[in-house]
Amino acid sequence: MSKNKFIPALRFKWLTPLYDFLIGATMPEINIKQSLIKFSYLTDGATVLDFGCGTGTLTIMAKETAPGANVTGIDIDVEILNKAIDKAREKEIELLLLNYDGTKLPFQNYSFNRVISCLVFHHLDTDTKQRVLAEIFRVLNKTGQLHIADFGRSNSWIQRTLFNIIRGLDGFKPTDANAKGLLPELISDAGFENVEIKKRFKTMFGEVQIISAEKI
Ligand SMILES: C[S@@+](CC[C@H](N)C(=O)[O-])C[C@H]1O[C@@H](n2cnc3c(N)ncnc32)[C@H](O)[C@@H]1O
Repeated sequence: MSKNKFIPALRFKWLTPLYDFLIGATMPEINIKQSLIKFSYLTDGATVLDFGCGTGTLTIMAKETAPGANVTGIDIDVEILNKAIDKAREKEIELLLLNYDGTKLPFQNYSFNRVISCLVFHHLDTDTKQRVLAEIFRVLNKTGQLHIADFGRSNSWIQRTLFNIIRGLDGFKPTDANAKGLLPELISDAGFENVEIKKRFKTMFGEVQIISAEKI
C-alpha cells in the first residue's frame, strides 16, 4: 500500500462518524478490547502504543486500566483521530494521539514495552502488514510485547463464510492473509517469538483472534 492510501474504519469515509455506534451494535467490541488489555498485562509505568487507534476506545481503556502508564495512539486517518481526541478530552484522559503518513512510525527504536492493536491488520495488504510489523518490532524495547486482535482463519466453516462480509467490504487483498490464517506467521517472520493465539471470538463477521507475541 503506498503512502497515505488507507482503508477507513468502515470502508467509506461517510461512515466514520457512525463507527462507535455500529461496531458496538454489531460486534462484541468491549469483550474483545477488555481481553486484549487483559493479555497485555498493562501496569503503571508501562509505555503503550495503540496502533491504528481509530476513535480511541482501546487507547482510553488502556489508560483507565493503568493510569500511570504512558499511552500513545496513532492512526493514519486524521478524521477518525479527531474523534479520539474529542473523546479523550471529554473524559479528561491524558493521551498522546498522533497522526502519521503510514510509512515509518515516528518513534525512536525501543520506545514502547507494549504495542496493542485492534481490528487494524485486516485493513493492510500483506506487504504493508510486513512493513508495519517490522516497524512495531523496531519501536518495541527488548522485552516488549505485541498484542493484536483481528480476524483470523476459523475452524468453523460458518465463521469462515461470515468473514466474506468483511472481505467484500474492506477488500479481498488486504484481508487475504487474515482469511488464510497467516497473521501469526507474519508476526514470527518479523522477528517475534512465542507467537500464540490466546483467544477466539465468534462474531457475526467471522472469527476475531487475540494474538500475543514477544520480542526477546
Ligand atoms: C476498523 S478500525 C479499528 C479502530 C480501532 N483500533 C478500534 O478497534 O476501534 C481500523 C483503523 O485502522 C486505521 N488504519 C488503516 N490503515 C492504517 C495504517 N496503515 N496505519 C495506521 N492505521 C491504519 C484506520 O484509519 C482505522 O482507524
